[in-house]
Amino acid sequence: MRSRDDLHLNVRVFKGIHAPSNGCVRHIFSLYSNWDLNLVGTIRRCITFLNSLDHNFAHTSPQSLLYTAPATPRQQKMSGATENTVYVVTGSNRNIGLGIVKTLLARPQHTVVATVRSEEAKTSLEDEAKSVPKGTGSKLEIIKYDFSTAVPPDQVKSTFAKLNIGHIDVLVLNAGGALPLVQPSKTKAEDMRAAFEVNSIAPLLVFQGLKSYLLQSKSTPKVISVTSAVGSIGGMDPFGGGGYGPSRAAQNWVARSIHLEFNGTKGDTRLICIALHPGWVQTETGQFAVDQWQSAFKAIDYKIEMPPTKLEDSVSGIIKVIDDATAEHSGKFLTFEGKTLPW
Ligand SMILES: NC(=O)c1ccc[n+]([C@@H]2O[C@H](COP(=O)([O-])OP(=O)(O)OC[C@H]3O[C@@H](n4cnc5c(N)ncnc54)[C@H](OP(=O)(O)O)[C@@H]3O)[C@@H](O)[C@H]2O)c1
Repeated sequence: MRSRDDLHLNVRVFKGIHAPSNGCVRHIFSLYSNWDLNLVGTIRRCITFLNSLDHNFAHTSPQSLLYTAPATPRQQKMSGATENTVYVVTGSNRNIGLGIVKTLLARPQHTVVATVRSEEAKTSLEDEAKSVPKGTGSKLEIIKYDFSTAVPPDQVKSTFAKLNIGHIDVLVLNAGGALPLVQPSKTKAEDMRAAFEVNSIAPLLVFQGLKSYLLQSKSTPKVISVTSAVGSIGGMDPFGGGGYGPSRAAQNWVARSIHLEFNGTKGDTRLICIALHPGWVQTETGQFAVDQWQSAFKAIDYKIEMPPTKLEDSVSGIIKVIDDATAEHSGKFLTFEGKTLPW
């Protein structure tokens, strides 16, 4: 065990969040016990110690904890079982989503759950995945969600539950779109509704459906909400955002509010949530914006024929932001290069 002071501090922090229970004891053990040394003795000492802090574990037998105790990395290694890092990536059959899926699959011990909305997209993703050398123990699972109309969180959850995966470490909410990017005087109500469905409502409902799996992650889970600089109110350009811009602004609001819900004021980060602009990327969506904004660009004498960000740079940047994300990045609106954008 680590020092008595360390354990004492952790119990006090933990006590504020959960009622004392066997789960509480196990959590503390998983952080503070050396499982490979006299396990029963360690547990007995912990129970005695917790009882001295007014927790009543008098009826807890060390053996009952042993049966449900999680395996340590060393125990997993000895038994040959290593738990995979689990990513869920929405909208993953093409461009940025596909790039993220391929990059993750090449890493060892990763389970990538990719979502698509059609059989055609599923087949195309399966074909693309075959071309990637997979890391040891890594695998791809594909599930279907169509975000054109709200998918109830229960349905999101039950579809995921069929995969028999117990946790999620990173959720990348990448599916999105619904253009055109026109000025407010030309924005139609139906375009606004379609944009809100896929860009604002879907990320919220997917998060709600998968939240319990994220909170099972052994590390601090991450939610990466792929949004757009077009949704920035503070940095708005006069190029026209149709329903797309406002729907991204709402998505940003949701990302920031998820951060606030899961991050206490005392530094007890339970989940990291970031709104992430992927760059102005060389995909059909990025090119669509270049084409739509040509007349506005002419007015300010700005010449551009294609989006400035290469697809591979966007994908590697996004992956780096995810890998590097800590509590201090949570609740921020970042670019794929890790720079902060105004809300
Ligand atoms: N490219 C850029 O410059 C840029 C800039 C800022 C933000 N973004 C955003 O970043 C994300 C990825 O960009 P991208 O260029 O890779 O976009 P993309 O090529 O248009 O791909 C979008 C993905 O989202 C899926 N999707 C769209 N509507 C959906 C719906 N109603 N239900 C389920 N899935 C749906 C698409 O599936 P289908 O193939 O079935 O349509 C596709 O897999 C998107 O959210 C995009 O809006 C892109």
